Amino acid sequence: MKLQAAAVLSFAAAASAKWTNNLNYRSPSEHHPFMGIAIHKVVRRTNYATPFNASQLNFTHGVASGDPYEDSVILWTRCSPVYDDDKSNITVTGTVPLYSHEHNEYVSVSAAPVCVNWQVSTSPNMTTPVSQGTAYTSSDIDYTIKVEATKLQPFTQYYYRFGVCNSTNYSPVGRTKTAPGPNDDTAAVSLAIYSCSNYNFGFFNAFGNAARKNSVDYVLHLGDFIYEYAEGAYGWGWSLGRIPQPNAEIRTLYDYRKRHATYRADLDSILSFQSFAWIPVWDDHEVGDNTYRDGMADQNNTEDSFIQYDIEYGGEYVSFDQRKMNAVRAYFEWMPIRQVEMDDNLRIWRSFSIGTLFDLIMLDTRQYDRSITDLYWNTDYIHQISNDAGRSMMGSRQENWFYNQLSASQERGATWRLIGSQTVFSRQNESIVYGNQDPLDYDAWDGYQANRNRTFQHLYQNNITNNIVMSGDSHMSWVSDLIWLDEHPYDENTGAGSVGVEFAGSAVSSPCPYGQNITQVSANNASNWLVHANKELQWQDVYYRGYYELTISKTQVNARFYGIPSIVQRLPYEVSLANFTVMAGANALQRPVAGGIVASGALKNGTTRMMNMTNNTLTGQYIVTDLQSFGYNQGPNGTRTNGTSGQPQQSSASGPGVPAPTTTS
Ligand SMILES: [Fe+2]
Repeated sequence: MKLQAAAVLSFAAAASAKWTNNLNYRSPSEHHPFMGIAIHKVVRRTNYATPFNASQLNFTHGVASGDPYEDSVILWTRCSPVYDDDKSNITVTGTVPLYSHEHNEYVSVSAAPVCVNWQVSTSPNMTTPVSQGTAYTSSDIDYTIKVEATKLQPFTQYYYRFGVCNSTNYSPVGRTKTAPGPNDDTAAVSLAIYSCSNYNFGFFNAFGNAARKNSVDYVLHLGDFIYEYAEGAYGWGWSLGRIPQPNAEIRTLYDYRKRHATYRADLDSILSFQSFAWIPVWDDHEVGDNTYRDGMADQNNTEDSFIQYDIEYGGEYVSFDQRKMNAVRAYFEWMPIRQVEMDDNLRIWRSFSIGTLFDLIMLDTRQYDRSITDLYWNTDYIHQISNDAGRSMMGSRQENWFYNQLSASQERGATWRLIGSQTVFSRQNESIVYGNQDPLDYDAWDGYQANRNRTFQHLYQNNITNNIVMSGDSHMSWVSDLIWLDEHPYDENTGAGSVGVEFAGSAVSSPCPYGQNITQVSANNASNWLVHANKELQWQDVYYRGYYELTISKTQVNARFYGIPSIVQRLPYEVSLANFTVMAGANALQRPVAGGIVASGALKNGTTRMMNMTNNTLTGQYIVTDLQSFGYNQGPNGTRTNGTSGQPQQSSASGPGVPAPTTTS
């Protein structure tokens, strides 16, 4: 009897491990009874005797990896008997348990677990696995699988794949890379940095280009990986065959899952996730436009809009809080990220020690604890309070962590501090389009100036140097010395007085906010106005969609900005826009900035010479191209619009042929 009991217990323990191995049952937070999934209830209802046949299961969205540590990495896939996403629109409401598996009122039960093995190898043909395991998934988590592959070597390239248990039904082979150990003397690390990938505005060529070039070690995405809109509300994808699903503004859990599934079906999205370890964070549109702690542009917690009737799909009432939790759950299910603190279901801010080279501090300046932002109807008010000491982009808990991370990084002797922010950190005087009454972007750090000043104060008081801020959100490129305006002297010609550099990247595919159909001449005129209106701003480009790469070494950081000549076709081309160097210890861009010449936009004290050399990232060959032939700003039928219908417009000042800005970014 005792032996039998032990055998039953060990079987139960082994089965339980296969559930807990899948981190998605435990995120966003296993410690919150209304947020986590009660694995014991899933186990209780499971019928192991009737598994799916391996031929019924498909790896529907490729493979992904992310959040590299020195000895482990997160691996992700989705293995499902259906392509569609799970329709259980369970939301956090009242005392109803989030995941009650008692009957179908709450969740459509799949009683058969999907069993998946995973293997990691140093070889692409998967010989001699160095790490492996087994995990279950089910409809509860949309058939996603997220596991941590452990016992790996630092800064080592690995290959991995998943397979349906007891079968030869395998996923594609993915490639990933662990991080260097914190004390490793790694010579150089390269990153591709993205933001704002909008599905119906165009193809994610930028994701694919870095994969085709095999030019980096890791990928960062600073947010707006998905957008929440229905087709036509912000972008028209019908002429491109890119209508995001479900074709409605997303509010329910199913909606957010389905939207992630759409974006992850883009071929260059699949290629990038399969080729590199990703380190992503969210911005506003992973939930909704201009989110902050308690609401968003058209849905707040303080008025009638608190509850919105999801009339387009599902017919459910969804409060903002419910909507945010739906978005968070889907994000954790679909992104290859770690949950670094199980007691905090919203925490996505986290850091990585990359050898003695740098610390990577990934902030959440958006969803976690941001004070009220510019919601379009309150711009004057947000302007008035933009320097209020009580306002924070991140909340006091994250702010304290941020400053402590900066100090700890300096104290441990890391050469550089890289800070991932969603919105642009430096001042952006954009009165050219916003007008003089409210000339700044109050949804960015300009709306939280006391928080920005506290950051500068911490950097200067503690002599924390070699700081590189990376940001997105604006759909334009901005390269600035990092200066404490009105507090610390700064020489815009030499860079003296700066405490680092900000590289703010353009969008993968989201449109130019000064007009989707802006000409390059008008765009460059606007850039020229901007670099003269902002003394710390050394290069600015309005025109190109794109991304940038950083190579970080002990002696310098090199930045390479790329423009995508077309997003209305899937093409492997890119234009080299501008290159920058930051020498260690200089705390400013090396002069002459960008070597004195760029291919687009405007360079302070430099020349813009438009190039017609295009790199084919598939072949590595540069070709002379008539860039206009790509129809950069127009769809094949020439009918694409700004896609801003239904969006409120901010005030506009007359500029050099510059239209009013779109307000969504
Ligand atoms: Fe955006």
